[in-house]
Amino acid sequence: MILPIRAFGDGVLRKMCKPIDSDYPDLNLLVENMMETMDASNGVGLAAPQIGKDIRLFVIDSTHMYDEEADGQRRVFINAEMLDEYDDAWTFEEGCLSIPHIRENVDRNASIKIRFQDLDFNTYEETFDGMTARVIQHEYDHIEGVLFIDHISALKRRLIKGKLTDISKGNISVDYRMKFPKK
Ligand code: NI
Repeated sequence: MILPIRAFGDGVLRKMCKPIDSDYPDLNLLVENMMETMDASNGVGLAAPQIGKDIRLFVIDSTHMYDEEADGQRRVFINAEMLDEYDDAWTFEEGCLSIPHIRENVDRNASIKIRFQDLDFNTYEETFDGMTARVIQHEYDHIEGVLFIDHISALKRRLIKGKLTDISKGNISVDYRMKFPKK
């Protein structure tokens, strides 16, 4: 089932998300729906707050992103904890399904080490590089209540302020299902 994606301005996008355990109801179905929602909107990642749940869960799919460094990943990350971000920062123009039609350059470290659990609550500590690392960093930010526009300069944020207001009011056209806080 395709879930509506929460737009900028929705308070859930600013929540520090909570860990979950294996008692969380219908987790397999939720993850399946998040994957379907991500695919339907041509996203490369989707975090639980974007579909209205303040829990530490996100999915990524970097398999269609060109990356000479590494193969892409299609994975679920539960209860993720960023352990380290290292290697030289690089710049890439990011976007977000919750903030349509806005793209801005964001600097992020090239490599990460992260601890997380899978759907069976097995725990992993893995390192990721390149585009996959960036997608994970962006989605990890979401479960900490952080958006990619928080990483840009105050000047650039002022320049997009009007567009952000339009997004929160639903005064935009999007070709995927969204839910706007002020509409
Ligand atoms: Ni995003």
